[in-house]
This record gives sequence, C-alpha cells and structure tokens, in this order.
Amino acid sequence: MIVLGVESTAHTIGIGIATDKGKILANEKEMYQSKKGGIIPTEAALHHRKKAPLLLKKALSEARLKLEDIDKIAVAIGPGLPPTLWEGINFSKKLKKPLVGVNHCIAHIEIGKKTGKLKDPLTVYASGGNTQITAKIGDKYRVFGETLDIGIGNAIDKFARNKGLQMPGGPKIEKLAEKGRKYIELPYTIKGMDLAFSGVVTSASKKETNLNDLAFSFQETIFSMLTEVSERALAHTEKKEILLVGGVAQNKRLQEMLKKMSREHKAKFHVPPSNLCGDNGAMIAWAGIIKKNKEEVIAKPRWRTDEATL
Ligand code: ATP
Ligand code: FE2
Repeated sequence: MIVLGVESTAHTIGIGIATDKGKILANEKEMYQSKKGGIIPTEAALHHRKKAPLLLKKALSEARLKLEDIDKIAVAIGPGLPPTLWEGINFSKKLKKPLVGVNHCIAHIEIGKKTGKLKDPLTVYASGGNTQITAKIGDKYRVFGETLDIGIGNAIDKFARNKGLQMPGGPKIEKLAEKGRKYIELPYTIKGMDLAFSGVVTSASKKETNLNDLAFSFQETIFSMLTEVSERALAHTEKKEILLVGGVAQNKRLQEMLKKMSREHKAKFHVPPSNLCGDNGAMIAWAGIIKKNKEEVIAKPRWRTDEATL
C-alpha cells in the first residue's frame, strides 16, 4: 500500500509519500513566513493553496510514481489553525482517493517510533506550538506534563524576535548559545509536572548583556526545565525508551541533555533525522498507514493528543 500524506496544520505545507513497509518515498515541504514573523492564518492558508499542487508534483516525481499509484490519502485534521487545516482537507478531497484523517501530534510521535524502531517510549514532543511529555497507557496516549502557556519553540522564537533576530529563531539562538560562557540567572518555572515559558521569555528579553551568554542561559534554563519534567515522567511511567520529536528536537543541546538523562536511567534515547522532526507530510502518511480507527474528515483545531486514538 502507498499512502500520500498532507500536512497543513500551521506554517508548513508538506506532502510526503510512504509505504506500508515503512519506506519513505518522498517528503516535500514549503514554509509560510509573514513579514513580521508571526502567523496570519488566512495568509498561511493562501500560501498553502498556492504551493500544494507543485509540491504534489514534486513528491510524485521524487517517488517515481503517478497519482494513480497512490492507494490512500492521509491528512492532518488537527490540532491546528482552522483556515490552514481546511486548505489541506479540501486539497486532499479533490484527489478523489480513500481519505483518512490523522492527529498531527500523534504523527510526530509515530514517525519517531518508526525511525528509532521503538516499542513503547516516553515521548518529549517539543515544537513551536506544543510542549508535551506523553506515553501510551493502554491504547491511548496520556499527557504527563505540558506547557501551561506557550510552546517551547514559540518561546525561543519570541525571545529571538525581541532581540532583533528573524524567524525561525531556534537555529539562530542555538548558534549564539554555542559561544555563550556565562550563566545568567533566569526564572525557572515548573508547576507540578507542567511548564511555563512566558516569564523566562520576558525576563531574558529585558536583559541587556552579551547575547551569546544570554542565548546560552536561555537554552540552559528552558531545556533543563523540560529535562527535569521528562525525568520525573520517566520514573513514574517506568518506560525504557525516550523519544524526542517536534521542530525543537533538532537542537543539539536539548538532545545532549535528554541523552545524558536517558543514559543515567538506562533508557534508550532516539531523535528522528532532522527532516522528519519538524512538520512534514511523510509523518502524516505514516500515521495514516498505521491508523485503525475511522475518523470523520473535518478540521479539529483543538484535538488533543489524549483524545485521539490510532
Ligand atoms: P506543532 O504544530 O507541532 O506545534 P510547529 O508548527 O511549531 O509544530 P515544527 O516544525 O514542529 O512546527 O517546529 C517549529 C519550531 O522549531 C520553531 O519554533 C523553530 O524555532 C523550532 N526550531 C527549529 N530548529 C530549531 C533548533 N535548532 N533549535 C531550537 N528550536 C528549533
Ligand atoms: Fe508540528
């Protein structure tokens, strides 16, 4: 079986192709960027509408396939922005194939499990809009800790923007942080098993000191917070594998911290290759392949990980 996946939950329009044997045949994407750095949902939707046909063409040619060879379309129906979600859904419907709707967050997790050949990991899902520590209990994902305000990637992007850096801020802050030496005290905000990032962003943005040191301190603070909660969730769930996914998973320092913590608990650590960390169509295709439950294909902007089943 060959499945084509469509991702359009937020800033990225992605089209990927995967087989039921777990091979990824194509993974094409384009990212919308507004002038000011934020996201204007209707503008992003228009961007996706314009790019989707060309991405489809590119993906098919990369996979050396024709549309006739595709057995099924998988589309991310939530969580996400209503206008961009509907753009992806309507585009998928026009292809006149059997259609399956998948949860975006679960797609991030499942592609990670596949690439790492993991069975039952504790997943640290760190992206722009989401920060969640999850694990499967029975046939559902449970959330053991999450952000109470903004996603960790948005926190990094906000801090970067306040310091005059362009979107996306993650890779730029990472580069600056590598040159930082001095740790500057910042608020460390964990509430029970949950996290809050806004205060750290405000505090770091106000400080006028060497930007390398500040970027270093910012990363150390927010990544330590995430690692601490993950460690507690690992102890609680007694899982033997840790999986790091989402756009922020590309950060080497975060990888290093979680890897070290995993080693101390004799757990296996895995992070997917970079092109499968951020939003992409291949992960949606893969989630569509393994999905068993039928889902009505309508936009579900607030669809939570713990409400979805595979
Ligand atoms: P979701 O809908 O799952 O919340 P998303 O729309 O935020 O995802 P992703 O592609 O998963 O999209 O993640 C984008 C985020 O990843 C941005 O905030 C970006 O700054 C961040 N990011 C990318 N590379 C790095 C990096 N090297 N270090 C830290 N953050 C990074
Ligand atoms: Fe995502």
